[in-house]
Amino acid sequence: MANIKVRQNGPYLVEGDDVTVVDWNGQAYVIPKRPFALCRCGGSTNKPFCDGTHSRIGFQAAEAAVPASQDKLAP
Ligand code: FES
Repeated sequence: MANIKVRQNGPYLVEGDDVTVVDWNGQAYVIPKRPFALCRCGGSTNKPFCDGTHSRIGFQAAEAAVPASQDKLAP
């Protein structure tokens, strides 16, 4: 099973041994280590992987998961 964690003001951290990353041709990228991080800021020189540039450019991202509503519809 794979897990993708959205890091605050940082990359997508991908955890899982059976995950591959492929380009638009279906060619797999070599993943040097696991877990690995995918760039979310657009600034990496090693896309699609994160190279730490997000820290140097002060990447800010405000999105966060919104818990599902506990409200129930009236019958
Ligand atoms: S998220 Fe790390 S370099 Fe873009």
